[in-house]
Amino acid sequence: MSEQAIGVFDSGLGGLTAVKEMVKVLPQENIIYFGDTARVPYGSRSEETIRQYAAQDAAFLLSKNVKMIIAACGTVSSVATELKDTLPVPFTGVVIPTATAAVRATRNGKVGIIGTSATVRSCSYKNEILRQNEKITVYQQDCPLFVNFVENGFISEKDPLVQLLVERYLCDLKKNGIDTLILGCTHFPIIAEAISDYLGKNVRLIDSGKETALYAANILNNHGLLNHSETIGSCSYYVSDTVEGFMHTAEIFLGKSVHDEVKHINIEKVALRLQG
Ligand code: DGL
Repeated sequence: MSEQAIGVFDSGLGGLTAVKEMVKVLPQENIIYFGDTARVPYGSRSEETIRQYAAQDAAFLLSKNVKMIIAACGTVSSVATELKDTLPVPFTGVVIPTATAAVRATRNGKVGIIGTSATVRSCSYKNEILRQNEKITVYQQDCPLFVNFVENGFISEKDPLVQLLVERYLCDLKKNGIDTLILGCTHFPIIAEAISDYLGKNVRLIDSGKETALYAANILNNHGLLNHSETIGSCSYYVSDTVEGFMHTAEIFLGKSVHDEVKHINIEKVALRLQG
């Protein structure tokens, strides 16, 4: 059981922010990643569509016999909240670990949240923060175009287009004097440098991918599912659009070649077969 892989999914590249951390924290674990690059972005779609996509993504990972599923996607975690109860394996999304880290981090009690439109509309992070500490003031901002920027490789903090978009989306949060910002979409840590350059070093950025990886490690431990093998685990990646499109930015972000590990699947066909 413990040598089975951990299944991680996102609408595209964003969930790699969790994979990158997972590999650091639990290097012996095998990971199977699915990025639904043919249907990204999820964050501007209806709740019904997001739920349907999330169920299909999880079904694909279960067919790979994974021992745990991580929805490394703020949108799925915020909207498809029923998914957890339908799965035969442990599951986590990103909202609880990330909100918990933000509550711990803030000193002045002003926390900003950025995410996709669906995530901000759901108030998932906001509700979880207030559940943990009702004295915190929360400011939310949706930043849907960040996802398209990341998917298309516009990620450098030196790129004037990236700087302009960051300023446009974050100027109100900056004015409000937040000291902590939740990067509530897992795509956003990929442009964390640009965000930090704009907000200044005093604003602490909370990386949803990273916090979730740490939280998932705890869940695996509690369920006795950690892989105690001495060998380094493998990562394989599946995408629903072209392998090349994913590979380029994935390699910049992960800092290593993933050339031989990325495969294409037709998620709709696969899901139809698996879900009947
Ligand atoms: N990484 C996803 C999230 O965390 C991106 C959402 C999207 O596809 O719009 O919300």
